[in-house]
Amino acid sequence: MKTIASIVGARPQFIKAAPVSRALASHFNEVMIHTGQHYDYEMSDLFFKEMDMRQPDFNLGIGGGTHGAQTGTMLIELEKVIATVKPDCVLVYGDINSTLAGALTAAKAGVPLAHVEAGLRSYNRTMPEEVNRVLTDHVSSWLFCPTDAAVQNLEKEGITKGVHQIGDVMYDALLRNLELSRNKSQILKRLDLKKGEYALATVHRSGNTDDPKNMRSVLDALGSLPIRVIFPVHPRTRSRINEWGFTVNSNVSLIEPLGPLDILQMQENANCILTDSGGMQKEAYLLGVRCITLREETEWVETVSAGWNSLAGVDAKRIKSLYETWKPNGERPLLYGDGHAAEKIAQILQNELN
Ligand code: UD1
Repeated sequence: MKTIASIVGARPQFIKAAPVSRALASHFNEVMIHTGQHYDYEMSDLFFKEMDMRQPDFNLGIGGGTHGAQTGTMLIELEKVIATVKPDCVLVYGDINSTLAGALTAAKAGVPLAHVEAGLRSYNRTMPEEVNRVLTDHVSSWLFCPTDAAVQNLEKEGITKGVHQIGDVMYDALLRNLELSRNKSQILKRLDLKKGEYALATVHRSGNTDDPKNMRSVLDALGSLPIRVIFPVHPRTRSRINEWGFTVNSNVSLIEPLGPLDILQMQENANCILTDSGGMQKEAYLLGVRCITLREETEWVETVSAGWNSLAGVDAKRIKSLYETWKPNGERPLLYGDGHAAEKIAQILQNELN
């Protein structure tokens, strides 16, 4: 049996890795390496537990630090693990620093690389994620794209070999986790919420959280909405809010980060989702909840053209006005595959590696 080394590090990757890992199990020996980029219980262990994933084989414990130090340390430590494991393929997900570190490690070690969620572009190079995804795609042998737009983006950069449009593994994950979350999550009861009577907000992109003007504007926008707003706060966002001494209007509840099952219930029952997260823009679409994106651009352009996602940036007036006046137009075509993206990845890799 061939060995695949999967590298994960942060929340959205655990969600993507769960279905892929299950699909790989019958074809490959999978060695999972957690870089430790996310390390709080609510940001990491809770995900493995609630999605019923086995524990990673290695945890490198590399969290925090500047982007360069974090990525560089990961590269040093990953190289050692890859030299020990000697995988036939390295598998990375998405666009975070752990993705780039994994991609560079594979490239330097001469191990073929597979990238899940390839081809996404915001065309905004000030985002660390954009740099991570462009570089990762350019050293990948297999590029698993979730959408046609992603395939076209790669074509524009001259990448056509090894490209597969297989749908989105996040849709696979959602189909499985939604049932579990409906049965198990008590979050609405715990927070005393009713369907459609609250908005859900999340903010963690450095462009928003690391600029006091932008962060203040987002908090003002949420505070101006005529509805209760539940805002599970990412640790980086929490530390900036504390550092700047920002307060919020009483309609906004800042709560701890939520696990994958609670967040799905919060999303499914929200009147509106306001977020700068990529994953939540898609989940909002798949769940039929309108999404106001707190960025000027998105990689998930099809959610906007389908009429369910509206790009608002951080301007408080624009956000409030969209909240009050904008409603999606109804139709939700299937944009993210058939819920079997993970199995397609396993099948393609099996054909290619065996
Ligand atoms: C990272 C990804 C982002 C992704 C996000 C998901 C990069 C460049 N960004 O951003 O694309 O959408 O994960 O959440 O890789 N921290 C904790 N506890 C944790 C995790 C982080 O306190 O469990 C702190 C870190 O010490 C750091 C800050 O939060 O000070 C930011 O964490 P970091 O891992 O650098 O990036 P994210 O903002 O989570």
